[in-house]
Amino acid sequence: MKIKDLPKDSRPRERFLAKGPEALSKSELLAIVLGSGIQGKNVQELAKQVIQKSGKDFLSISVDDLRKFAGIGQAKALQIVASVALVKRFYEHEKSGNQATLPLSSKEENSFELQNRRYIGNKYKLADWIFSILEKECSGNSFTDIFAGTGVVSAKAATRFKNIILNDFLYSNHTVYKAFFDKGDWDRGKTDRIIEGYNRINGKDLTDSYFSKNFGGKYFSRSSARIIGFVRDDIEKRKTELTEREYHVLITSLLYAVDKIANTVGHYDAYFKKVLVDDTFAMRSPVPILVENVEIYREDANLLAKRIKTDIVYIDPPYNSRQYSRFYHLLETLVKWDKPKLYGTALKPVEENMSDYCRISAKEKLAELVKDLNAKFLVVSYNNTYTSKSSSSLNKITHTEIESILAEKGETKVFEKDYRHFNAGNTDFNNHKEFLFVTKVK
Ligand SMILES: C[S@@+](CC[C@H](N)C(=O)[O-])C[C@H]1O[C@@H](n2cnc3c(N)ncnc32)[C@H](O)[C@@H]1O
Repeated sequence: MKIKDLPKDSRPRERFLAKGPEALSKSELLAIVLGSGIQGKNVQELAKQVIQKSGKDFLSISVDDLRKFAGIGQAKALQIVASVALVKRFYEHEKSGNQATLPLSSKEENSFELQNRRYIGNKYKLADWIFSILEKECSGNSFTDIFAGTGVVSAKAATRFKNIILNDFLYSNHTVYKAFFDKGDWDRGKTDRIIEGYNRINGKDLTDSYFSKNFGGKYFSRSSARIIGFVRDDIEKRKTELTEREYHVLITSLLYAVDKIANTVGHYDAYFKKVLVDDTFAMRSPVPILVENVEIYREDANLLAKRIKTDIVYIDPPYNSRQYSRFYHLLETLVKWDKPKLYGTALKPVEENMSDYCRISAKEKLAELVKDLNAKFLVVSYNNTYTSKSSSSLNKITHTEIESILAEKGETKVFEKDYRHFNAGNTDFNNHKEFLFVTKVK
């Protein structure tokens, strides 16, 4: 039967126009992309055949696979494969919240590398550029990452400098540094066995507890939320049989697993209204970063600055009023595990670790930090978001203010790079630049 012989309300295009895409089956949607069938096989039959044969592999179907179907030539095959690729691209973009996406390209299959997480303002994609400048402009043996965030800049520094100091005031970041960088005892076989056990748990076999009652059906599926809560409780119970490093390894492994399935754009200021069920909860072991000497702190940068002596300090503070402790509250709650009372739709605890760098006082704080630092080189990252529809993405310190603060310490060179950073999607500003200020201290 030809398509035009079908009653109007059974034809895919007409149904689509009348009722929208939700009213159509997968093969009907594909029929619209295909457009036409061949002699003896109408487009709907052809589409049905493709969907049935490819099954759940449809999303990875190739041009060659499609050309095996009588009625699909190169042009049609390309049309389908390109449509799938386009949707995948947008989906990934949405999932990563337009943050520099940190790929899951683990050296070992059962491992997480430091960069395999989503974090606003991380410098993973800028690290090569930063170090190409540092190699020319700076020298020394010790490197301090005083607002270390994910720690990806320190990881790169560890391949060049003997002594690394990492600091960030978030509990979750601190735990991650302890797992990846610390030198404490860690029996990998022991943590791998525990992780394997956790990965075998089925959420349906568990009952609800603090984590699933609060976050299930919102930030995670109910089932995954039960597993997360159970695992976190279990790590705490095992604390006495674990070394300090092993404890941090297990919590870090949980944090990275959580990030992979969270129903968010990558931070916890909100969750998607519709729960995208992702029950692929899988913990893996962190791949340690080799460093000769390391010191790890969880302090206010301005307090730590008064005590340390180092050759190079990398200063990458928050640029705008978005508070990291509020964006990553769920990870903080998971690490502290004090099961706090939660407020609002985003389910945040009471405020803690609110940064002055996100406030009007940012300029004074940077001036104080710079004055107190005992270092040979100061390296500051900042960008140029001074106009935006969203007031929360506006920078707190001007370019000239940074230059004049640094001028008090020595001569400064400024480097710039075109770079599209994270924003909430409502900026009208396209000329994004990332700046690196390098000061040779007098
Ligand atoms: C722009 S991010 C750093 C990103 C990092 N360079 C990376 O590549 O992942 C700024 C970091 O500063 C931390 N922070 C903000 N205010 C702080 C303070 N007063 N003391 C210590 N850390 C602070 C935040 O928790 C956040 O992780």
